[in-house]
Amino acid sequence: MEFPGYRHRRLRQNETWRRALREHRLSTDDFVFPMFVTEGKGVRNSIESMPGIYQLSIDQAVEEAREVEELGIPAVLLFGVPEESKKDEKGSPGYDPEGIIPQAIRAIKEVCPDLLIWADVCLCEYTSHGHCGVLGTNGDVDNDATLPLLSEMAVAYADAGVDAVAPSDMMDGRVGTIRKMLDDNGHSLVPIISYAAKYCSSYYGPFRDIANSCPSAGDRKGYQMDPSNIDEAVREVAQDITEGADIIIVKPAGSYLDVVSRVKENFGVPTAAYQVSGEYSMIKAAGQNGWLDQEAVMTESLLAIKRAGADLIITYFAKEIARKLQGSSGN
Ligand code: PBG
Ligand code: ZN
Repeated sequence: MEFPGYRHRRLRQNETWRRALREHRLSTDDFVFPMFVTEGKGVRNSIESMPGIYQLSIDQAVEEAREVEELGIPAVLLFGVPEESKKDEKGSPGYDPEGIIPQAIRAIKEVCPDLLIWADVCLCEYTSHGHCGVLGTNGDVDNDATLPLLSEMAVAYADAGVDAVAPSDMMDGRVGTIRKMLDDNGHSLVPIISYAAKYCSSYYGPFRDIANSCPSAGDRKGYQMDPSNIDEAVREVAQDITEGADIIIVKPAGSYLDVVSRVKENFGVPTAAYQVSGEYSMIKAAGQNGWLDQEAVMTESLLAIKRAGADLIITYFAKEIARKLQGSSGN
């Protein structure tokens, strides 16, 4: 029916109508909280570009994990920040069974057995050059030489009791290689959460500050995706599903909602979107300046990701939004 017979405003006229007809709702169950684990004891290093997010030693990470669990958030995603002096060309502290992440997994599991622990699988936090794989003689990342190291890392995490491994390196063939190594080592029930559509994004800047993982030379354009592409994302996701990925990640989230939506519609597999460091920092910075209502923009940004079709949202806001949702009907 045409105006004036039909009026859209009828169903928006008060909060009760709006609440009754809301199409999407945020729930604490939607979120995954990323955490950065470093060496030492009692360490809680703040990073200027990511207010409220810290490099935590294992004892502090256990406390933080307990808080995350009490808030009802189902999962954390762990990143390792080893001492600079331990890093080498091949990223070996990353697949040391006694390395920072296996130790953190065991310590958190002991205190929070029901909290899901996801762990990022990539070499960039552990290599002296900061690239996501080992370098070949031409200075490029050597795809095939990197695969066994990533698999070794995944097995070390699985042996420590991780609930899922999340390869973020963007090497070709890593999902299949990791799946086989996990299965051969008795870990057929450990899911692979693949960063299948991971773009070469400038929104990762603050993450590289907190993870000390900025490449010392060059960039990641030879392995991460070009921001102009979406058909390529579909092909990446299709390949990872064929190789055995259980959950697909699209990353970043806010500037790639078309990709989230296309992936979810095309494949109908569990899809996570990663609201990355730069997305978080922009909202925080504008909020701190009094230029935006930080809480309202946080909520709106997360709702947009959910509306695009994400089943899960990895976000540095996880604790804040969970606190906000406590006692509300979820919007
Ligand atoms: C490592 C990795 C990165 C992020 C997650 N895993 C950085 C990168 O690829 O340079 C970025 C996450 C964020 O910005 O919050 N491969
Ligand atoms: Zn990496």
